[in-house]
Amino acid sequence: MIEPLALHDTKWTPAKASIVMSIALDQQVCVNLTLNSSEMELQTRHCHILVLDNFFGEEERTELLDLITLPSWNHANGPPARKWERISDGPGLPLTWGLNKDSLLEVERASANLPTFKEIISRLAKLYPDYIICKQPHNCHFVPPKYVINEGDVCGQFVANAAMPHEDFRWHVDADPSEFPEDCAWVKQHGQYVNTNPGKPLFVTCLLYLNAEWPMDWAAETLFLDDATDCGVFVRPKPYRCVLMEMHTVHRLSPPSPLAPYPRYSFVWKLLFVPRRDNHICTIALARVPPSVPNPGSDFTSELETLPEPRARESETSLYSVVFGAASLPDLQTI
Ligand SMILES: [Fe+2]
Repeated sequence: MIEPLALHDTKWTPAKASIVMSIALDQQVCVNLTLNSSEMELQTRHCHILVLDNFFGEEERTELLDLITLPSWNHANGPPARKWERISDGPGLPLTWGLNKDSLLEVERASANLPTFKEIISRLAKLYPDYIICKQPHNCHFVPPKYVINEGDVCGQFVANAAMPHEDFRWHVDADPSEFPEDCAWVKQHGQYVNTNPGKPLFVTCLLYLNAEWPMDWAAETLFLDDATDCGVFVRPKPYRCVLMEMHTVHRLSPPSPLAPYPRYSFVWKLLFVPRRDNHICTIALARVPPSVPNPGSDFTSELETLPEPRARESETSLYSVVFGAASLPDLQTI
């Protein structure tokens, strides 16, 4: 069910990127679902978000934008109707632009051939040597068996947005393995667990902004919510910027300003970070940044450290990020 993504040799090194935000928010108390009921244990978990600038370059940006639109496309006309359609994430939810089925299949095929895809995963593999970077399995693994998914249906590992002014985007999480139905194939194999549970596959969203420019007043920031405090943080779209977030993070897109002359394009790759060691603390937090001292633009190589050995308390992962909102509250496990 879990398939490692292909790598290639890359000259890229982590020193070429900058961490401009590494944050932990939304502390929650959860039951450790991986233990049996007689050993019920509470644990805290956070949502981590990491923003990397200069994670990719013009070559990758152009290739991905051309793939999801068309080469030389005039973006002032909106996304090309040949590849995009108005879709909804569910009954009663608003329509927004998304790639049509044929385009998603085209992206899946391209992901096996275009060097850009291997390059992105190879860079992530260099940043996260403690994990095997894997493809998120087909959507059919996350739904009950009664929901028939036809052979050839798109997998769901890729999503693209072409946000336009006045559109309506809702708060959501991309995935939360503690919410998957008990009778789905994933839970039968891996059990129900909280994303970030030690030793378990970590669901991670990798978001790449694809516009060549995006001035401040065009808006369309990505918003992240600290659910418990109703505060949040945002990230502006910017060329060559990558956002990594643990998939249980509550977030949404905000619509572009009417000043924006063309869509705000983003490309999302849904990944699994599979830890190489049993009980490895699973998180995308990378840099050791003291909670009260933000360190934007820091040199990656001087900051990059591996996480503590297994069995360290989960709340210690917050030491690797600026903590925000509920994540900055005392460890609720001790209350
Ligand atoms: Fe999302």
